[in-house]
Amino acid sequence: MPNHLHYGDNLEVLRRLPAESVDLIYLDPPFNSNASYNQLFKAPDGRSSAAQVEAFEDTWHWGDAASAAFEDVRRHPTHSDAAQMIVALRSFLGENDMMAYLVMMAVRLIELHRVLKPTGSLYLHCDPTASHYLKILLDAVFGKAGYQNEVIWRRYKRPKGSQHTARRFGRSTDTILFYTKSYGYQFHADRIRQEIDSSEFERRYSMRDAKGPFMSGPLLRSDSMGPRPNLVFEFKGYTPGPAGWRMSREKLEALDTEGDIFFTGTGLPRRKVRPTDNPSNSIDNLWTDIEALTAYSQERLGYPTQKPVALLERILSASSNPGDVVLDPFCGCGTTIHAAQKLGRQWIGIDITHLAIGLIEKRLRDAFPDVAFTTHGVPKDLAGARDLAARGRFHEFEKWALSLVNAQPGNFGKKGADRGIDGNIWFGKTGRAIVSVKAGENVGVAMIRDLRGVIEREEADIGVFLTLAPPSRPMLTEAAAAGTFTMEDCAPVPKVQIVTIEQAMALRERAVALPLRRADSFRRAAREEGGRQGAFEL
Ligand SMILES: C[S@@+](CC[C@H](N)C(=O)[O-])C[C@H]1O[C@@H](n2cnc3c(N)ncnc32)[C@H](O)[C@@H]1O
Repeated sequence: MPNHLHYGDNLEVLRRLPAESVDLIYLDPPFNSNASYNQLFKAPDGRSSAAQVEAFEDTWHWGDAASAAFEDVRRHPTHSDAAQMIVALRSFLGENDMMAYLVMMAVRLIELHRVLKPTGSLYLHCDPTASHYLKILLDAVFGKAGYQNEVIWRRYKRPKGSQHTARRFGRSTDTILFYTKSYGYQFHADRIRQEIDSSEFERRYSMRDAKGPFMSGPLLRSDSMGPRPNLVFEFKGYTPGPAGWRMSREKLEALDTEGDIFFTGTGLPRRKVRPTDNPSNSIDNLWTDIEALTAYSQERLGYPTQKPVALLERILSASSNPGDVVLDPFCGCGTTIHAAQKLGRQWIGIDITHLAIGLIEKRLRDAFPDVAFTTHGVPKDLAGARDLAARGRFHEFEKWALSLVNAQPGNFGKKGADRGIDGNIWFGKTGRAIVSVKAGENVGVAMIRDLRGVIEREEADIGVFLTLAPPSRPMLTEAAAAGTFTMEDCAPVPKVQIVTIEQAMALRERAVALPLRRADSFRRAAREEGGRQGAFEL
Protein backbone atom coordinates (compact mmCIF):
# COMPACT_ATOMS: atom_id res chain seq x y z
CA MET A 1 0.00 0.00 0.00
CA PRO A 2 1.60 3.30 -1.03
CA ASN A 3 1.62 6.51 1.04
CA HIS A 4 -1.55 8.60 1.31
CA LEU A 5 -2.28 12.15 2.42
CA HIS A 6 -5.96 12.95 2.99
CA TYR A 7 -7.47 16.40 3.21
CA GLY A 8 -10.71 16.21 5.14
CA ASP A 9 -12.40 15.18 8.37
CA ASN A 10 -10.63 12.10 9.69
CA LEU A 11 -13.90 10.44 10.70
CA GLU A 12 -15.04 10.29 7.09
CA VAL A 13 -11.65 9.07 5.88
CA LEU A 14 -11.30 6.48 8.66
CA ARG A 15 -14.72 5.03 7.88
CA ARG A 16 -13.46 4.28 4.35
CA LEU A 17 -10.25 2.54 5.50
CA PRO A 18 -10.30 -1.27 5.61
CA ALA A 19 -10.42 -3.02 9.01
CA GLU A 20 -7.14 -4.27 10.50
CA SER A 21 -4.95 -2.52 7.94
CA VAL A 22 -2.71 -0.32 10.12
CA ASP A 23 0.25 -1.29 12.34
CA LEU A 24 0.72 1.88 14.38
CA ILE A 25 -1.41 4.93 15.09
CA TYR A 26 -0.13 8.16 16.61
CA LEU A 27 -2.67 10.91 17.17
CA ASP A 28 -2.16 14.40 18.51
CA PRO A 29 -5.67 15.87 18.45
CA PRO A 30 -6.49 19.40 19.54
CA PHE A 31 -6.50 19.29 23.34
CA ASN A 32 -9.68 21.15 24.22
CA SER A 33 -7.50 24.05 25.26
CA ASN A 34 -10.17 26.46 24.05
CA ALA A 35 -7.70 28.20 21.78
CA SER A 36 -7.31 28.93 18.10
CA TYR A 37 -3.90 28.13 16.67
CA ASN A 38 -2.28 30.37 14.13
CA GLN A 39 0.22 29.51 11.45
CA LEU A 40 3.11 31.94 11.21
CA PHE A 41 4.39 32.98 7.80
CA LYS A 42 7.68 34.73 7.56
CA ALA A 43 7.50 37.95 5.57
CA PRO A 44 10.58 39.09 3.66
CA ASP A 45 12.85 41.13 5.95
CA GLY A 46 11.70 44.61 6.77
CA ARG A 47 8.55 44.59 4.64
CA SER A 48 5.93 43.86 7.24
CA SER A 49 5.51 41.79 10.35
CA ALA A 50 5.06 38.06 9.95
CA ALA A 51 1.57 37.15 8.78
CA GLN A 52 -0.56 34.90 10.91
CA VAL A 53 -3.52 32.94 9.81
CA GLU A 54 -5.77 30.67 11.78
CA ALA A 55 -4.66 27.10 11.09
CA PHE A 56 -7.21 25.25 13.16
CA GLU A 57 -9.64 25.82 15.94
CA ASP A 58 -9.42 23.92 19.20
CA THR A 59 -12.81 24.79 20.53
CA TRP A 60 -15.55 22.23 20.96
CA HIS A 61 -19.13 23.05 21.78
CA TRP A 62 -22.07 20.86 22.58
CA GLY A 63 -24.48 21.00 19.64
CA ASP A 64 -26.06 18.89 16.90
CA ALA A 65 -22.77 17.33 15.78
CA ALA A 66 -21.84 16.36 19.35
CA SER A 67 -25.32 14.94 19.97
CA ALA A 68 -25.10 12.86 16.78
CA ALA A 69 -21.65 11.54 17.72
CA PHE A 70 -22.96 10.72 21.21
CA GLU A 71 -25.79 8.66 19.71
CA ASP A 72 -23.32 6.89 17.39
CA VAL A 73 -21.25 5.76 20.36
CA ARG A 74 -24.23 5.00 22.60
CA ARG A 75 -25.78 2.70 20.01
CA HIS A 76 -22.54 1.18 18.73
CA PRO A 77 -23.16 -2.50 17.87
CA THR A 78 -19.80 -3.84 19.13
CA HIS A 79 -18.40 -1.35 21.64
CA SER A 80 -20.80 -1.72 24.55
CA ASP A 81 -18.14 -0.68 27.13
CA ALA A 82 -17.49 2.55 25.24
CA ALA A 83 -21.25 3.12 25.04
CA GLN A 84 -21.61 2.69 28.82
CA MET A 85 -18.61 4.91 29.50
CA ILE A 86 -19.81 7.75 27.29
CA VAL A 87 -23.24 7.67 28.95
CA ALA A 88 -21.58 7.74 32.39
CA LEU A 89 -19.33 10.63 31.39
CA ARG A 90 -22.26 12.60 30.08
CA SER A 91 -24.18 12.16 33.30
CA PHE A 92 -21.08 13.28 35.25
CA LEU A 93 -19.98 16.17 33.02
CA GLY A 94 -23.24 17.30 31.47
CA GLU A 95 -23.52 18.72 27.98
CA ASN A 96 -20.59 21.08 27.80
CA ASP A 97 -17.42 21.75 25.81
CA MET A 98 -15.41 18.98 27.49
CA MET A 99 -18.16 16.47 26.79
CA ALA A 100 -18.36 17.61 23.16
CA TYR A 101 -14.62 17.04 22.86
CA LEU A 102 -14.80 13.58 24.47
CA VAL A 103 -17.68 12.46 22.26
CA MET A 104 -15.78 13.62 19.18
CA MET A 105 -12.78 11.62 20.37
CA ALA A 106 -14.81 8.53 21.32
CA VAL A 107 -16.37 8.11 17.90
CA ARG A 108 -12.93 8.41 16.29
CA LEU A 109 -11.19 6.09 18.75
CA ILE A 110 -13.71 3.38 17.88
CA GLU A 111 -12.83 3.73 14.18
CA LEU A 112 -9.11 3.77 14.99
CA HIS A 113 -9.53 0.55 16.96
CA ARG A 114 -11.25 -1.00 13.94
CA VAL A 115 -8.50 -0.12 11.44
CA LEU A 116 -5.69 -1.27 13.74
CA LYS A 117 -4.22 -4.73 13.13
CA PRO A 118 -4.47 -7.18 16.07
CA THR A 119 -0.71 -6.69 16.59
CA GLY A 120 -1.02 -2.90 16.41
CA SER A 121 -0.41 -0.09 18.89
CA LEU A 122 -1.95 3.34 19.42
CA TYR A 123 -0.30 6.37 21.01
CA LEU A 124 -2.63 9.21 21.97
CA HIS A 125 -0.81 12.47 22.65
CA CYS A 126 -2.72 14.84 24.92
CA ASP A 127 -2.17 17.02 27.96
CA PRO A 128 -3.54 17.05 31.49
CA THR A 129 -6.58 19.10 30.41
CA ALA A 130 -8.37 15.94 29.31
CA SER A 131 -5.90 13.04 29.70
CA HIS A 132 -7.78 11.55 32.68
CA TYR A 133 -11.02 11.31 30.71
CA LEU A 134 -9.29 10.08 27.57
CA LYS A 135 -7.62 7.31 29.53
CA ILE A 136 -10.89 5.83 30.74
CA LEU A 137 -12.34 6.22 27.25
CA LEU A 138 -9.38 4.30 25.86
CA ASP A 139 -9.82 1.64 28.55
CA ALA A 140 -13.39 1.26 27.36
CA VAL A 141 -12.50 1.08 23.64
CA PHE A 142 -9.31 -1.03 23.88
CA GLY A 143 -10.19 -2.98 27.04
CA LYS A 144 -8.34 -2.53 30.31
CA ALA A 145 -5.68 -5.04 29.20
CA GLY A 146 -4.86 -2.80 26.24
CA TYR A 147 -3.27 -0.16 28.47
CA GLN A 148 0.53 -0.32 28.36
CA ASN A 149 1.95 3.04 29.47
CA GLU A 150 1.26 6.62 30.33
CA VAL A 151 4.32 8.43 29.02
CA ILE A 152 5.01 11.85 30.51
CA TRP A 153 6.89 14.04 28.08
CA ARG A 154 8.55 16.99 29.72
CA ARG A 155 8.44 19.62 27.01
CA TYR A 156 10.57 22.24 28.73
CA LYS A 157 13.61 21.73 30.94
CA ARG A 158 13.02 25.19 32.37
CA PRO A 159 9.27 25.72 32.63
CA LYS A 160 8.27 28.86 30.78
CA GLY A 161 7.12 31.93 32.67
CA SER A 162 3.74 31.88 30.99
CA GLN A 163 3.07 28.44 32.41
CA HIS A 164 3.21 29.68 35.98
CA THR A 165 0.29 31.17 37.70
CA ALA A 166 0.35 32.38 41.27
CA ARG A 167 -1.96 29.68 42.57
CA ARG A 168 -0.69 26.43 41.09
CA PHE A 169 2.48 24.71 39.88
CA GLY A 170 3.79 25.32 36.37
CA ARG A 171 2.57 22.99 33.65
CA SER A 172 5.34 21.68 31.49
CA THR A 173 4.34 18.16 30.49
CA ASP A 174 2.29 16.38 27.88
CA THR A 175 0.84 12.92 28.28
CA ILE A 176 1.13 10.13 25.72
CA LEU A 177 -1.20 7.19 26.33
CA PHE A 178 0.05 3.93 24.84
CA TYR A 179 -2.54 1.20 24.17
CA THR A 180 -2.41 -2.03 22.18
CA LYS A 181 -5.15 -4.02 20.53
CA SER A 182 -3.98 -7.37 21.91
CA TYR A 183 -1.17 -8.87 23.93
CA GLY A 184 0.55 -9.98 20.67
CA TYR A 185 1.79 -6.45 19.94
CA GLN A 186 5.32 -5.66 18.80
CA PHE A 187 7.67 -3.63 20.98
CA HIS A 188 11.38 -3.11 20.29
CA ALA A 189 12.89 -1.69 23.49
CA ASP A 190 16.39 -2.51 22.21
CA ARG A 191 16.05 0.08 19.41
CA ILE A 192 15.34 3.04 21.65
CA ARG A 193 17.99 2.75 24.32
CA GLN A 194 19.62 5.99 25.41
CA GLU A 195 23.37 6.20 24.98
CA ILE A 196 25.27 7.24 28.09
CA ASP A 197 27.88 9.98 27.85
CA SER A 198 31.51 9.69 28.95
CA SER A 199 31.01 11.36 32.34
CA GLU A 200 28.15 8.99 33.20
CA PHE A 201 30.29 6.09 31.95
CA GLU A 202 33.17 7.12 34.28
CA ARG A 203 30.80 7.50 37.20
CA ARG A 204 29.14 4.16 36.59
CA TYR A 205 32.26 2.06 35.76
CA SER A 206 34.47 3.73 38.34
CA MET A 207 36.63 0.66 39.20
CA ARG A 208 39.34 -0.81 37.06
CA ASP A 209 41.53 -3.93 36.89
CA ALA A 210 43.87 -5.43 34.28
CA LYS A 211 40.86 -6.34 32.06
CA GLY A 212 39.48 -2.78 32.11
CA PRO A 213 36.70 -0.78 33.83
CA PHE A 214 33.90 -2.42 35.84
CA MET A 215 31.25 -1.65 38.40
CA SER A 216 30.44 -3.63 41.52
CA GLY A 217 27.38 -5.90 41.29
CA PRO A 218 25.70 -8.19 43.87
CA LEU A 219 26.48 -11.90 44.25
CA LEU A 220 24.28 -12.51 47.33
CA ARG A 221 20.50 -12.66 47.53
CA SER A 222 19.04 -10.22 50.04
CA ASP A 223 17.20 -11.54 53.11
CA SER A 224 13.93 -10.04 51.81
CA MET A 225 14.09 -12.49 48.87
CA GLY A 226 13.47 -15.37 51.32
CA PRO A 227 15.51 -18.47 52.20
CA ARG A 228 16.96 -20.71 49.43
CA PRO A 229 18.69 -23.67 51.12
CA ASN A 230 19.98 -25.07 47.79
CA LEU A 231 21.93 -21.81 47.17
CA VAL A 232 23.62 -21.84 50.60
CA PHE A 233 27.11 -23.34 50.21
CA GLU A 234 30.72 -22.36 50.85
CA PHE A 235 32.63 -20.71 48.01
CA LYS A 236 36.15 -19.26 48.29
CA GLY A 237 35.89 -19.40 52.09
CA TYR A 238 32.54 -17.48 52.24
CA THR A 239 29.20 -19.02 53.27
CA PRO A 240 26.11 -16.74 52.84
CA GLY A 241 23.07 -16.58 55.18
CA PRO A 242 19.78 -18.45 54.53
CA ALA A 243 18.95 -16.40 51.38
CA GLY A 244 22.05 -17.84 49.66
CA TRP A 245 24.05 -16.94 46.53
CA ARG A 246 22.44 -15.40 43.45
CA MET A 247 23.63 -18.28 41.24
CA SER A 248 24.72 -21.90 41.18
CA ARG A 249 28.24 -23.05 42.11
CA GLU A 250 29.02 -23.72 38.39
CA LYS A 251 28.18 -20.16 37.41
CA LEU A 252 30.19 -18.75 40.31
CA GLU A 253 33.18 -20.86 39.24
CA ALA A 254 32.85 -19.66 35.64
CA LEU A 255 32.79 -16.01 36.81
CA ASP A 256 35.80 -16.63 39.02
CA THR A 257 37.74 -18.19 36.12
CA GLU A 258 37.04 -15.02 34.09
CA GLY A 259 38.47 -12.93 36.98
CA ASP A 260 35.08 -11.31 37.59
CA ILE A 261 34.68 -11.90 41.35
CA PHE A 262 36.27 -9.75 44.06
CA PHE A 263 35.98 -9.21 47.84
CA THR A 264 35.30 -5.79 49.39
CA GLY A 265 37.40 -4.34 52.22
CA THR A 266 34.81 -5.72 54.68
CA GLY A 267 35.12 -9.20 53.14
CA LEU A 268 31.86 -9.33 51.11
CA PRO A 269 31.95 -11.16 47.75
CA ARG A 270 30.92 -8.98 44.74
CA ARG A 271 30.69 -9.40 41.01
CA LYS A 272 32.61 -7.25 38.47
CA VAL A 273 30.05 -5.99 35.94
CA ARG A 274 31.80 -5.02 32.69
CA PRO A 275 30.40 -2.48 30.21
CA THR A 276 28.79 -3.83 27.04
CA ASP A 277 29.97 -2.58 23.62
CA ASN A 278 27.38 0.21 23.59
CA PRO A 279 26.61 1.08 27.17
CA SER A 280 23.14 2.61 27.29
CA ASN A 281 20.08 3.03 29.47
CA SER A 282 16.69 1.57 28.75
CA ILE A 283 13.91 4.15 28.36
CA ASP A 284 11.18 4.46 30.94
CA ASN A 285 7.89 6.35 30.77
CA LEU A 286 9.35 9.72 31.81
CA TRP A 287 10.78 11.42 28.73
CA THR A 288 12.89 14.43 29.55
CA ASP A 289 15.54 14.16 26.86
CA ILE A 290 13.52 15.45 23.88
CA GLU A 291 12.96 19.20 23.84
CA ALA A 292 9.91 20.81 22.30
CA LEU A 293 10.59 22.99 19.28
CA THR A 294 11.52 26.59 19.97
CA ALA A 295 11.44 29.65 17.74
CA TYR A 296 15.04 28.80 16.80
CA SER A 297 14.64 25.08 16.06
CA GLN A 298 15.90 24.09 12.63
CA GLU A 299 12.92 21.87 11.90
CA ARG A 300 10.32 24.49 12.85
CA LEU A 301 7.81 25.21 10.08
CA GLY A 302 5.70 27.78 11.92
CA TYR A 303 2.77 25.37 12.26
CA PRO A 304 1.22 25.61 15.72
CA THR A 305 1.73 22.62 18.03
CA GLN A 306 4.36 21.07 15.73
CA LYS A 307 6.04 18.16 17.52
CA PRO A 308 9.74 17.26 17.23
CA VAL A 309 10.64 14.50 14.78
CA ALA A 310 12.78 12.83 17.50
CA LEU A 311 9.63 12.15 19.55
CA LEU A 312 7.97 10.39 16.65
CA GLU A 313 11.13 8.50 15.72
CA ARG A 314 11.18 7.02 19.22
CA ILE A 315 7.55 5.90 19.00
CA LEU A 316 7.87 4.53 15.47
CA SER A 317 11.12 2.69 16.24
CA ALA A 318 9.65 1.07 19.35
CA SER A 319 6.30 0.03 17.89
CA SER A 320 6.76 -0.61 14.18
CA ASN A 321 9.06 -2.22 11.63
CA PRO A 322 10.24 -0.91 8.26
CA GLY A 323 7.45 -1.43 5.71
CA ASP A 324 4.70 -1.25 8.38
CA VAL A 325 1.76 1.13 7.93
CA VAL A 326 1.73 4.16 10.26
CA LEU A 327 -1.41 6.33 10.53
CA ASP A 328 -1.70 9.86 11.91
CA PRO A 329 -5.34 11.03 11.71
CA PHE A 330 -4.57 14.55 13.05
CA CYS A 331 -1.30 14.96 11.20
CA GLY A 332 -0.83 18.77 11.37
CA CYS A 333 2.30 19.73 9.49
CA GLY A 334 3.29 16.08 9.12
CA THR A 335 5.82 15.26 11.84
CA THR A 336 4.71 11.63 12.01
CA ILE A 337 4.80 11.37 8.25
CA HIS A 338 8.29 12.84 8.12
CA ALA A 339 9.50 10.31 10.71
CA ALA A 340 7.72 7.45 8.91
CA GLN A 341 9.28 8.36 5.57
CA LYS A 342 12.70 8.69 7.21
CA LEU A 343 12.42 5.28 8.88
CA GLY A 344 11.09 3.46 5.81
CA ARG A 345 7.52 2.96 7.03
CA GLN A 346 4.44 3.36 4.82
CA TRP A 347 2.13 6.09 6.02
CA ILE A 348 -1.34 7.61 5.96
CA GLY A 349 -1.87 11.20 7.11
CA ILE A 350 -5.18 13.03 7.53
CA ASP A 351 -5.82 16.69 8.33
CA ILE A 352 -8.84 18.91 8.04
CA THR A 353 -6.98 22.11 7.13
CA HIS A 354 -5.58 22.71 3.69
CA LEU A 355 -2.77 24.71 5.21
CA ALA A 356 -1.48 21.55 6.87
CA ILE A 357 -1.76 19.47 3.70
CA GLY A 358 0.08 22.09 1.62
CA LEU A 359 2.84 22.31 4.25
CA ILE A 360 3.29 18.54 4.39
CA GLU A 361 3.58 18.28 0.61
CA LYS A 362 6.32 20.90 0.63
CA ARG A 363 8.02 19.47 3.73
CA LEU A 364 8.19 16.00 2.19
CA ARG A 365 9.47 17.16 -1.18
CA ASP A 366 12.16 19.31 0.49
CA ALA A 367 13.37 16.49 2.76
CA PHE A 368 12.88 13.49 0.46
CA PRO A 369 13.05 14.56 -3.21
CA ASP A 370 12.07 11.05 -4.43
CA VAL A 371 9.12 10.63 -2.10
CA ALA A 372 6.02 9.06 -3.69
CA PHE A 373 2.54 9.67 -2.29
CA THR A 374 -1.02 10.45 -3.32
CA THR A 375 -2.98 13.41 -2.00
CA HIS A 376 -6.75 12.92 -1.68
CA GLY A 377 -9.52 15.44 -1.16
CA VAL A 378 -7.79 18.54 -2.52
CA PRO A 379 -9.78 19.97 -5.43
CA LYS A 380 -8.56 18.55 -8.71
CA ASP A 381 -11.06 20.30 -10.98
CA LEU A 382 -13.50 23.19 -10.96
CA ALA A 383 -16.28 21.07 -9.48
CA GLY A 384 -13.98 20.15 -6.56
CA ALA A 385 -13.10 23.81 -6.08
CA ARG A 386 -16.81 24.74 -6.00
CA ASP A 387 -17.43 22.00 -3.47
CA LEU A 388 -14.63 23.31 -1.23
CA ALA A 389 -15.97 26.87 -1.50
CA ALA A 390 -19.47 25.66 -0.61
CA ARG A 391 -18.19 23.95 2.56
CA GLY A 392 -16.79 27.34 3.68
CA ARG A 393 -14.89 26.07 6.74
CA PHE A 394 -12.09 28.13 8.35
CA HIS A 395 -11.44 29.96 5.04
CA GLU A 396 -10.22 26.66 3.59
CA PHE A 397 -11.11 27.66 0.04
CA GLU A 398 -9.18 30.92 0.32
CA LYS A 399 -6.09 29.23 1.74
CA TRP A 400 -6.16 26.59 -0.99
CA ALA A 401 -6.66 29.19 -3.74
CA LEU A 402 -3.73 31.25 -2.42
CA SER A 403 -1.49 28.18 -2.35
CA LEU A 404 -2.19 27.68 -6.08
CA VAL A 405 -0.46 30.94 -6.95
CA ASN A 406 2.18 30.64 -4.23
CA ALA A 407 0.74 33.48 -2.16
CA GLN A 408 1.08 33.74 1.62
CA PRO A 409 -2.25 34.00 3.40
CA GLY A 410 -3.07 37.42 4.82
CA ASN A 411 -5.77 38.09 7.34
CA PHE A 412 -8.91 37.32 5.35
CA GLY A 413 -10.66 40.60 5.62
CA LYS A 414 -10.30 40.89 9.42
CA LYS A 415 -10.54 44.34 10.82
CA GLY A 416 -7.27 46.20 11.31
CA ALA A 417 -4.35 47.35 9.26
CA ASP A 418 -4.48 44.42 6.83
CA ARG A 419 -8.17 44.65 5.91
CA GLY A 420 -9.04 43.63 2.39
CA ILE A 421 -5.86 41.59 1.97
CA ASP A 422 -6.42 37.87 1.64
CA GLY A 423 -2.85 37.14 0.60
CA ASN A 424 0.47 38.52 -0.52
CA ILE A 425 2.98 37.56 -3.16
CA TRP A 426 6.40 39.02 -2.52
CA PHE A 427 8.72 39.39 -5.49
CA GLY A 428 12.08 40.89 -6.34
CA LYS A 429 13.69 42.89 -3.55
CA THR A 430 10.75 45.07 -2.59
CA GLY A 431 7.82 44.04 -4.79
CA ARG A 432 4.42 43.16 -3.37
CA ALA A 433 1.27 41.87 -5.02
CA ILE A 434 -1.89 41.90 -2.92
CA VAL A 435 -4.29 39.02 -3.55
CA SER A 436 -8.03 39.20 -3.04
CA VAL A 437 -9.87 35.85 -3.20
CA LYS A 438 -13.55 35.56 -4.10
CA ALA A 439 -15.27 32.23 -3.50
CA GLY A 440 -18.77 33.45 -4.37
CA GLU A 441 -20.70 33.33 -7.63
CA ASN A 442 -21.57 37.04 -7.52
CA VAL A 443 -18.61 39.18 -8.47
CA GLY A 444 -18.82 42.71 -9.79
CA VAL A 445 -16.95 45.80 -10.87
CA ALA A 446 -17.16 47.36 -7.38
CA MET A 447 -14.85 44.62 -6.13
CA ILE A 448 -12.17 45.60 -8.67
CA ARG A 449 -12.52 49.22 -7.59
CA ASP A 450 -12.08 48.12 -3.97
CA LEU A 451 -8.95 46.21 -4.89
CA ARG A 452 -7.53 49.28 -6.63
CA GLY A 453 -8.22 51.21 -3.43
CA VAL A 454 -6.40 48.62 -1.30
CA ILE A 455 -3.36 48.68 -3.64
CA GLU A 456 -3.23 52.44 -3.32
CA ARG A 457 -3.70 52.43 0.46
CA GLU A 458 -1.01 49.80 0.97
CA GLU A 459 1.31 51.31 -1.65
CA ALA A 460 1.54 47.85 -3.19
CA ASP A 461 2.65 47.27 -6.78
CA ILE A 462 0.09 44.82 -8.11
CA GLY A 463 -3.38 43.56 -7.22
CA VAL A 464 -4.58 40.07 -8.06
CA PHE A 465 -8.30 39.29 -8.08
CA LEU A 466 -8.54 35.49 -7.72
CA THR A 467 -12.08 34.42 -8.48
CA LEU A 468 -14.10 31.25 -8.76
CA ALA A 469 -16.72 32.93 -10.95
CA PRO A 470 -15.68 34.33 -14.34
CA PRO A 471 -15.33 38.14 -14.47
CA SER A 472 -17.76 40.38 -16.33
CA ARG A 473 -16.68 42.72 -19.12
CA PRO A 474 -16.98 45.85 -16.91
CA MET A 475 -14.68 44.17 -14.39
CA LEU A 476 -12.09 43.52 -17.10
CA THR A 477 -12.40 47.12 -18.28
CA GLU A 478 -11.94 48.44 -14.73
CA ALA A 479 -8.86 46.23 -14.25
CA ALA A 480 -7.35 47.36 -17.54
CA ALA A 481 -7.93 51.00 -16.56
CA ALA A 482 -5.45 50.56 -13.70
CA GLY A 483 -2.65 50.43 -16.27
CA THR A 484 0.62 48.61 -15.82
CA PHE A 485 3.36 48.27 -13.25
CA THR A 486 6.97 48.47 -14.38
CA MET A 487 9.93 47.38 -12.33
CA GLU A 488 13.37 48.56 -13.32
CA ASP A 489 14.81 46.50 -16.18
CA CYS A 490 11.63 44.38 -16.43
CA ALA A 491 8.76 44.12 -18.85
CA PRO A 492 5.57 45.90 -17.67
CA VAL A 493 2.79 43.78 -16.19
CA PRO A 494 -0.89 44.65 -15.60
CA LYS A 495 -1.34 46.47 -12.29
CA VAL A 496 -4.66 44.75 -11.60
CA GLN A 497 -4.92 41.15 -12.75
CA ILE A 498 -8.06 39.06 -12.75
CA VAL A 499 -7.24 35.36 -12.49
CA THR A 500 -9.91 32.66 -12.39
CA ILE A 501 -9.50 29.61 -10.20
CA GLU A 502 -9.62 27.52 -13.36
CA GLN A 503 -6.62 29.40 -14.73
CA ALA A 504 -4.79 29.18 -11.41
CA MET A 505 -5.36 25.42 -11.29
CA ALA A 506 -3.97 25.05 -14.81
CA LEU A 507 -1.04 27.47 -14.62
CA ARG A 508 -0.32 27.59 -10.87
CA GLU A 509 1.97 30.53 -10.01
CA ARG A 510 2.41 31.32 -13.71
CA ALA A 511 -1.22 32.49 -13.70
CA VAL A 512 -0.02 35.72 -12.09
CA ALA A 513 2.20 37.94 -14.23
CA LEU A 514 5.04 39.21 -12.09
CA PRO A 515 7.84 41.43 -13.36
CA LEU A 516 10.81 39.48 -14.59
CA ARG A 517 14.19 40.65 -15.69
CA ARG A 518 13.94 41.04 -19.45
CA ALA A 519 16.32 38.19 -20.24
CA ASP A 520 14.27 35.83 -18.03
CA SER A 521 10.99 36.87 -19.50
CA PHE A 522 12.29 36.27 -23.04
CA ARG A 523 13.54 32.85 -22.04
CA ARG A 524 10.27 31.99 -20.31
CA ALA A 525 8.19 33.26 -23.20
CA ALA A 526 10.17 31.08 -25.60
CA ARG A 527 9.70 28.05 -23.32
CA GLU A 528 6.02 28.54 -23.00
CA GLU A 529 5.56 29.22 -26.71
CA GLY A 530 3.24 32.06 -26.10
CA GLY A 531 1.45 30.54 -23.05
CA ARG A 532 -0.34 33.32 -21.21
CA GLN A 533 0.83 34.60 -17.86
CA GLY A 534 -2.01 35.91 -15.87
CA ALA A 535 -4.54 38.57 -16.61
CA PHE A 536 -7.35 38.39 -19.10
CA GLU A 537 -6.97 39.92 -22.53
CA LEU A 538 -9.69 42.40 -23.27
C1 LIG B 1 -2.26 19.43 17.56
S1 LIG B 1 -2.32 19.52 15.83
C2 LIG B 1 -1.26 18.22 15.28
C3 LIG B 1 0.18 18.65 15.19
C4 LIG B 1 1.09 17.56 14.64
N1 LIG B 1 1.31 16.50 15.57
C5 LIG B 1 2.41 18.15 14.16
O1 LIG B 1 3.47 17.76 14.68
O2 LIG B 1 2.37 19.00 13.27
C6 LIG B 1 -3.93 18.90 15.52
C7 LIG B 1 -4.32 18.86 14.06
O3 LIG B 1 -5.57 18.19 13.96
C8 LIG B 1 -6.28 18.75 12.87
N2 LIG B 1 -7.69 18.37 13.02
C9 LIG B 1 -8.60 18.86 13.90
N3 LIG B 1 -9.78 18.24 13.74
C10 LIG B 1 -9.62 17.33 12.74
C11 LIG B 1 -10.47 16.38 12.11
N4 LIG B 1 -11.74 16.24 12.48
N5 LIG B 1 -9.97 15.62 11.11
C12 LIG B 1 -8.67 15.77 10.71
N6 LIG B 1 -7.82 16.65 11.28
C13 LIG B 1 -8.28 17.42 12.28
C14 LIG B 1 -5.98 20.23 12.96
O4 LIG B 1 -6.17 20.86 11.71
C15 LIG B 1 -4.52 20.22 13.40
O5 LIG B 1 -3.65 20.32 12.30
